[in-house]
Order: sequence, then C-alpha cells, then structure tokens
Amino acid sequence: MVTEEIKFSLDSYESIDELNQDDAFLLSEARSATQFAYAPYSNFQVSAAAKLVNGEVVYGSNQENASYPAGICAERSLLSSAASLHPGVAIETMAITYNNLKGTSDTPGAPCGICRQVINEFQLRYNKPMRLILSGMTGKVLIINNASNLLPLAFTSEDLK
Ligand code: THU
Repeated sequence: MVTEEIKFSLDSYESIDELNQDDAFLLSEARSATQFAYAPYSNFQVSAAAKLVNGEVVYGSNQENASYPAGICAERSLLSSAASLHPGVAIETMAITYNNLKGTSDTPGAPCGICRQVINEFQLRYNKPMRLILSGMTGKVLIINNASNLLPLAFTSEDLK
C-alpha cells in the first residue's frame, strides 16, 4: 500500500486592486453581470465572465426556474454560450462571482460539483487549461491556474472506454 497525495496551489489576493489589468477587467465584468442573474428563489445571483483565446468576452449567469432542478448555474450557462457563439474557441480565463443580496458577498465562492464536471470536460475538449478567478462582490480574490485542480480523480470519457 502507498498513500498518495493530491495537492494544488492557488494565488490569493486581498482585493481586485492587486490583480493585473486583464484579470481586474474580467472580474469587474463578472461583478456587473450579477444583475442579469434570474434568482428569485434563492436570491443568490451568480455570474461569470470569460475571456476566450480570440479576445472575445462571454458572460453567463444563473437562471432559476419554479421547477427548481430546471435552473442552470452561471458557469454552465457561460460554457454553453461560449461553445455556441464561438465554436472551437478555447477559454483562457473565467471569472466567477456572486451577490447574495445581503451585503455579505465578500468571500470567494467556488463552482458547484456539477459545474466542476462540465468545466473539466470543456478543458479536455478544447485541450487548454482554464484559469479561474474566484471572488465575491468585494474582498479576497483567488486565482487557480488550471480549473481541473478543483476536480481530482475526475470521471471522463476515458472511463467509458
Ligand atoms: N449556482 C451557480 O450559479 N453556480 C454555482 O457554482 C453554485 C450555485 C446557483 C444555482 C442556484 O441558482 C443558486 O446559485 C443557489 O444555489
């Protein structure tokens, strides 16, 4: 028996002011886009803004439904838009943020498990690691250089062979 360890590192910043210009722009776009969320049931507005390798910026936000499971998360709404509007173009960086409408959206949020699964397959499909910028409306910012770090031992198409 051997014990294996899975580790990854991330960069932590005190605020958006410490980011480079491109990352600060993307996070600020994501923060503005929380207003486009449709979250009447949870009042938890999530949004994402991604810069594609061709320089285009694509947005996504959570879109809820009275039939709760029919709602979609911001991250997956963004990935569907990106793949539909710009087929074959990889994502370089995706910023994800949320507004809980309580004035306490000041710590980074992270993608849910289903979104991690979909982000992982997006990376494999486009053969490019995706950087993630995670934050709330204010405060600390985390940068992860490869989104797949968030899903160790992922289930992929390889498992179906
Ligand atoms: N949500 C997202 O949009 N992304 C996540 O990664 C976590 C959760 C949404 C789903 C639902 O509309 C609301 O946040 C509360 O769970």
